[in-house]
Amino acid sequence: MSEVTLVVNGRKVSGAVEDRTLLVHFLRENLNLTGTHVGCDTSQCGACVVHVDGKAVKSCTMLAVQASGSTVTTIEGLANGADLHPVQAAFKENHGLQCGFCTPGMIMTATDMIRRHPDGLDEATVRAELEGNICRCTGYHNIVKAILAASKTMSKASKSKANKAA
Ligand code: FES
Ligand code: FES
Repeated sequence: MSEVTLVVNGRKVSGAVEDRTLLVHFLRENLNLTGTHVGCDTSQCGACVVHVDGKAVKSCTMLAVQASGSTVTTIEGLANGADLHPVQAAFKENHGLQCGFCTPGMIMTATDMIRRHPDGLDEATVRAELEGNICRCTGYHNIVKAILAASKTMSKASKSKANKAA
């Protein structure tokens, strides 16, 4: 057993885990953060994506002990109180989900994608970058639409913030 300490959704947490415990299991079973899903055992589906130190990571590919000392954000930590994160709002507005199983991973991947492309995204880039996330329901079209819409909203918001600061 090893002791792990990390900051999850702004809260410092620690716990004793077996060395083989995956981050996704630590989040779901020790912290009860069940919004992060497990959809495969081959690291292909992306349902388990969270942010580790700000970057999208498949939490089934990382041991909890490897994440010790990191800052982790899960889908539960994305909204600002009752206000949905712009990516969550865009998925809602553009019907980017059906059963919702893949949605937490899609949204965490999309948020990181938008952060890495602050000047905006095009459809081909979104489709290429979604390669690691599988949806079994939607046909992807509305997911891509939602990500493009969120990217527009977020780049507009950051430009107006920058203009105000100038
Ligand atoms: S559960 Fe992690 S990629 Fe499928
Ligand atoms: S919405 Fe059902 S798997 Fe994507």
